[in-house]
Amino acid sequence: MTPAASSPAPLPGVPFVSYRGGQLMVEDVALSALARAHGTPLFVYSSAAILHALAAYQRGLAGRDALICYAVKANSSLAILKLLADAGCGFDIVSGGELERALAVGTAPAKIIFSGIGKTRQEMRRALEAGVGCFNVESLAELDVLSDVAQGCGRVAPVSIRVNPNVDARTHPYISTGLKGNKFGIAHEQALEAYRRAASLPGLRVAGIDCHIGSQITEPAPYLEAMDRVLDLVAAIEAAGIPIHHIDFGGGLGIDYNGDTPPAADALWSALLARLDARGYGGRRLMIEPGRSLVGNAGVCLTEVLYLKPGEQKNFCIVDAAMNDLPRPALYQAFHRIEPVAAAAPGAPATTYDVVGPVCESGDWLGRDRALAVAPGDHLAVLSAGAYCMAMASNYNTRPRAAEVLVSGGQARLVRQREGVQDLFRDERV
Ligand code: LLP
Repeated sequence: MTPAASSPAPLPGVPFVSYRGGQLMVEDVALSALARAHGTPLFVYSSAAILHALAAYQRGLAGRDALICYAVKANSSLAILKLLADAGCGFDIVSGGELERALAVGTAPAKIIFSGIGKTRQEMRRALEAGVGCFNVESLAELDVLSDVAQGCGRVAPVSIRVNPNVDARTHPYISTGLKGNKFGIAHEQALEAYRRAASLPGLRVAGIDCHIGSQITEPAPYLEAMDRVLDLVAAIEAAGIPIHHIDFGGGLGIDYNGDTPPAADALWSALLARLDARGYGGRRLMIEPGRSLVGNAGVCLTEVLYLKPGEQKNFCIVDAAMNDLPRPALYQAFHRIEPVAAAAPGAPATTYDVVGPVCESGDWLGRDRALAVAPGDHLAVLSAGAYCMAMASNYNTRPRAAEVLVSGGQARLVRQREGVQDLFRDERV
């Protein structure tokens, strides 16, 4: 258990979350006060942590013609999008809904790139009318439909083809996307043919090339491998007379959940840029689509201990957050650190618990075998909960989704109200 401390004691991997005087803080705000004021489950994000993570990318890409397009899917809350838009980010979107969110915070449409394998005609039309910067196209069939839709509304769609470089990102199979067996992208071997087709279609204009190999990647090697394969393709496509104006290397950089050691964004990019320079592509316009690495370690989810339930084989610590709020453990057996909001007194006896939610599924757990000295009514913080938690939250078991607070220094702003039960069946009819 973390000992009470009077000087700030940042926790590993989450530099803007620390204990001060035994109280867990996000920046200069005590989490116990937020839990009291807004109830639980409650997501709390640090703006400084987000900007700090962004700054590493900005340093890494300094002096280059580069656009950082935050992957909205990681956390699509408007306040976070606004923070990133104001800091100069564009956005990588994968649905008409994400497009509306990006536009709602005043993003220049040209800084939006539209990814995803299943764009509908309606989504394409809306994105064309808004004037998005690029469509990342993932199949030959999609090229045809996009050209048709663009012609129908008198536009020309800027396109990149997402190539599948067949590189192993060495991550969880559900979040690995760059292998042949994955549904994403156009196979490396078919990419040239796809570019020829794109260049021949009247509604399309070839803008760039795109690749994204997976998520929670913790080593530089898969990136370097994918980069080499993409650059080989750029050479072949340009030799065929089709200019490639920008190269989009996707997102995927991992974060420290539990002693993971991904490269820092600036270190990763200095290695990637060295390779790019060595191969003569250093002056090319670059795009990247980071999600998790910008917001993941900037957020915590506060939850209250409801009951302690000792058992023969397991002890359960039942809390008021569940798999509908934090689906990552249930979906990917993901590890999130769980810390008490008020540090346990030194020497307080800890018990080993599975921390579980109220949802009626055995898969509803947030952490397994955690040593905690807690009592009902105490608050816990689930760490590294800024990415793919609220964004994947559901209403399973008719549980309203949590509220969200954005902290900046000593200020805390409620940026999403807790959902009400009435909100959940407002659109239903008996
Ligand atoms: N670009 C594309 C085309 C993507 O599919 C993704 C993520 C990203 C960018 C951003 O990747 P990031 O930098 O966040 O790794 N729900 C899973 C993660 C799914 C990622 C899906 N695609 C999780 O909780 O681990």
